[in-house]
Amino acid sequence: MGYPHPSNPRETVVLSQYFGDVEARTYAGWTKRGGYQALKKALGMTPEAIVDEVKASGLRGRGGAGFPTGLKWSFMPKGDGKPHFLVCNADESEPGTFKDREIMRWTPHQLIEGCAIAAYAIGAERIYCYIRGEFTEPWRIMTQAVEEAYAAGALGGNVFGSGRRIDLVLHRGAGAYICGEETAMMNSIEGKRGNPRIKPPFPAQAGVFGLPTTINNVETLSAVPHILNRGAAWYKALCLNNPKSTGTKLFSVCGHVMKPGNYEVTLGFPMKDLIHDLAGGMRPGRRLKAVIPGGSSVPIMNVEEAESALCDYEGIVEKGSMLGSAGFIVMDDSADIVYEVYLLAKFYAHESCAQCTQCREGTAWTTKILERILKGQGKPEDLDLLLDLSVQMTGRTICVLSDSCAAPIVSGIKKFREEFDAYISRAKAPALAAV
Ligand SMILES: Cc1cc2nc3c(=O)[nH]c(=O)nc-3n(C[C@H](O)[C@H](O)[C@H](O)COP(=O)(O)O)c2cc1C
Ligand code: SF4
Repeated sequence: MGYPHPSNPRETVVLSQYFGDVEARTYAGWTKRGGYQALKKALGMTPEAIVDEVKASGLRGRGGAGFPTGLKWSFMPKGDGKPHFLVCNADESEPGTFKDREIMRWTPHQLIEGCAIAAYAIGAERIYCYIRGEFTEPWRIMTQAVEEAYAAGALGGNVFGSGRRIDLVLHRGAGAYICGEETAMMNSIEGKRGNPRIKPPFPAQAGVFGLPTTINNVETLSAVPHILNRGAAWYKALCLNNPKSTGTKLFSVCGHVMKPGNYEVTLGFPMKDLIHDLAGGMRPGRRLKAVIPGGSSVPIMNVEEAESALCDYEGIVEKGSMLGSAGFIVMDDSADIVYEVYLLAKFYAHESCAQCTQCREGTAWTTKILERILKGQGKPEDLDLLLDLSVQMTGRTICVLSDSCAAPIVSGIKKFREEFDAYISRAKAPALAAV
């Protein structure tokens, strides 16, 4: 539900049912609400049966790429005799995205239960839950919940008397966006600098400490207990028209809306209704201008695209962008697109790990060029230069941070070119002071 707002009747509340309910944070409170039944059920199933159930549900990764979760789990080797690991990605540093934080704040046991089921399904005895460094409150709540789960036998050497060992280690990040990328996270867990690794090998072959590893997002893992409790068919039926995008999704809506918050709806929900109805629409006297729907790492949508899009993996691609982490950055007609994309470029330049030339130089030069445009010192050829840089930054680097920087710039120039031209032609006063 759109915590702190009351749940909207148009939401389909599954993961967020207990947001705002302090009692649900405790082990006793969670079990009173049906918690840990799914883990007990899972322990009576074969790992293969769990993987099949998750595959049948159609669950896709909620961390950004939308990769099918059951399929990812099935890549883990079987009978190899090696230790396996599960990594829970709780780094959530994507601009505009604040859903995993709320899951950990309100329902830590929902996540722990999902992690334990996933670990059992992929043959892992150890889970690393990598929590964003700045998440002080979620860290404290998760720490307490993990202690409670050990004390109640939901984690440890003999989970609920099954003879299975499942340990969960909380690992706190140090505030680097790049550590949300799966292989950078693995390096960071190993105590190394958080630089992304070249793939292949993929994590299922060589992940944490070179051993088979599966990595999933907080929201992905939190959906798993519900799938086991209520069945794959129930989850699959949570679908509006598009059978490739099933289940509910938390949409973090922020920016120029009256009621920013997390809204949980069935995938395929109209974006127009999410923004104008659930999130309360624009401020008085303002009109919707643009939306960046996947956190900041995807193309900007203009008003026509946004208001005709359906919120699922394919629906948003059809309208020229991507679902990503489903953090909606909503901009009304007061927004300066040039300034907005400059802020994003500056963010990516700061967060680049600097291993790849195209990313290190590309993000830095993109920032510098946008800065000079905003200072009223832009040149007519600057837009072509920015587009050329973006081509060099896309599809050529170890990870997609570089592509992520290029996406809003290219779409910004293509869809709002007149705003860039206004600065370059000096028709608009500089937004930044020249030094
Ligand atoms: C630069 C960068 C940052 C990322 N940050 C996050 C993040 O904060 N949280 C997350 O779940 N996934 C993040 N991802 C995606 C992960 O690499 C990975 O795909 C995801 O954790 C897989 O989980 P899923 O299959 O459940 O979505 C990021 C990717 C990149 C390239
Ligand atoms: S693309 Fe950027 S962040 Fe990713 S590995 Fe290369 S330099 Fe590092």
